[in-house]
Amino acid sequence: FVLVLDFGGQYTQLIARRIRECRVYCEILPYHTPAEDIVSRRPKGIVFSGGPSSVYQEGAPQCAVSLYDAGIPILGICYGMQLMARQLGGTVSPAERREYGKTELEVLDGSGLFRGLEDRERCWMSHGDRVDAPPPGFAVTARTAHSPVAAMADPVRKLFGLQFHPEVRHTPRGVQILQRFLYEVCGCRGDWTMSSFLEDAVAQIRREVGDGRVLCALSGGVDSSVAAALVHRAVGDRLTCVFVDHGLLRQGESEQVRETFARRFGMRLVHVEAQDRFLDRLAGVEDPEAKRRIIGTEFIRVFEEEAAKLGPIDFLVQGTIYPDVVESGTATGAVIKTHHNVGGLPEDIRFKLIEPLRWLFKDEVRVLGEELGLPEEIVWRQPFPGPGLAVRVLGEVTREKLECLRAADAVVDEEIRRAGLYRQVWQSFAVLPPIRSVGVMGDERTYGYTIVIRAVESVDAMTADWVRLPYEVLETMSRRLVNEVKGINRVVYDITSKPPGTIEWE
Ligand code: XMP
Repeated sequence: FVLVLDFGGQYTQLIARRIRECRVYCEILPYHTPAEDIVSRRPKGIVFSGGPSSVYQEGAPQCAVSLYDAGIPILGICYGMQLMARQLGGTVSPAERREYGKTELEVLDGSGLFRGLEDRERCWMSHGDRVDAPPPGFAVTARTAHSPVAAMADPVRKLFGLQFHPEVRHTPRGVQILQRFLYEVCGCRGDWTMSSFLEDAVAQIRREVGDGRVLCALSGGVDSSVAAALVHRAVGDRLTCVFVDHGLLRQGESEQVRETFARRFGMRLVHVEAQDRFLDRLAGVEDPEAKRRIIGTEFIRVFEEEAAKLGPIDFLVQGTIYPDVVESGTATGAVIKTHHNVGGLPEDIRFKLIEPLRWLFKDEVRVLGEELGLPEEIVWRQPFPGPGLAVRVLGEVTREKLECLRAADAVVDEEIRRAGLYRQVWQSFAVLPPIRSVGVMGDERTYGYTIVIRAVESVDAMTADWVRLPYEVLETMSRRLVNEVKGINRVVYDITSKPPGTIEWE
């Protein structure tokens, strides 16, 4: 496997993704990880990421110089190359002209990482500093109009630097360059697959759990479902899943979880019917944050009560995935919404945590889910917030409104699927605001509620754009919503991006 040292670059995760796409397992570590720890993990290679700093500034992120002598091949990208240049005796300075975007690369040495490239290639640049002179022992292997050293190599010590970004698609031969590094320089075999991950993970969970008992809060979402199925594969009946039906779920969801996990997989599943409990607590509450807090707290209570009934439990499964791991620790943003995850459990947790997905990206989690035999409806499910429909019934949540929204949501969902858009849309759903308006149906005046349709595209939910749904799809939705959902006489489409909007309305 290979390690990526993160110097704060915006593409660090992308580097890791590309390496895994080359079927080489890799992990990201912060740049200040002690050199002994890095070396003792025996990676076959190390990649230094880009980063926003200048290597000549005081306090610029650095790695230990001893890493270069550890006999491990290193590829420095952008900042990573500048750091390598500076630490080994080359010179780095502010460029006269920044290079940004598509740039022509002149390949000076078509061997090594660049074997098979043309003399001129396209590459993607994004830098303000440049390497003026490489360190002793390095040859300049490529240049551009504004970078005298766009790539450098010391094949003897197996140290390489690229000023451009091989990990982005705008560098068409980037993956090929990475492969040369991984396969030819590092000697990686490129045989990492999801089934090998599955085998390793099962063995590891068995070792860790021993004879212990394991509990999992199952939400029916992709991550907790895949985590539960994986742990079940490893320890069978020593896993118990708790699924809390808080009455804020979509149509058919509760039944689907029971069908999949209890019937098909034969898992021990405690299905808690807690609808009344949640809805009673929510009665009369209008403030979105108060609603979230109530649901979060109540969820923990229900979960703890169920856990207590089960007797001594040693481990708790969490569906944490890699982007959560990488982002926590750096996230310092203002609290826009208090997120409640079904796994968001009490702080004074008495269990040891098992997080079997903590090294996987979302799409890898899906592949693993398929490998484990989970049904498509679960593996490809769109994200759904922990507080469920409560954040889509704006203002006070009542049983009648929930029922109305659930029926409307089912219509939106069906039509999105019918149009073949379900997988490519990040989230699509209905919202029920507390406004009523006048309409006419038959010969009668109506005074009914409005349904908002929301459909967004996104990669990570941090930013999102509204989907340009075909008019015919909107038309069918509108007609069905008014005809089939009691109390609805008007339908609107939300055309706000995030920012300034958020995906959910509360
Ligand atoms: P917003 O509305 O902040 O949502 O743009 C971003 C993503 O997070 C989901 N979301 C939640 N997920 N607990 C969750 O597990 C929550 O409390 C919560 N609130 C929003 C939302 O559906 C979107 O995918």
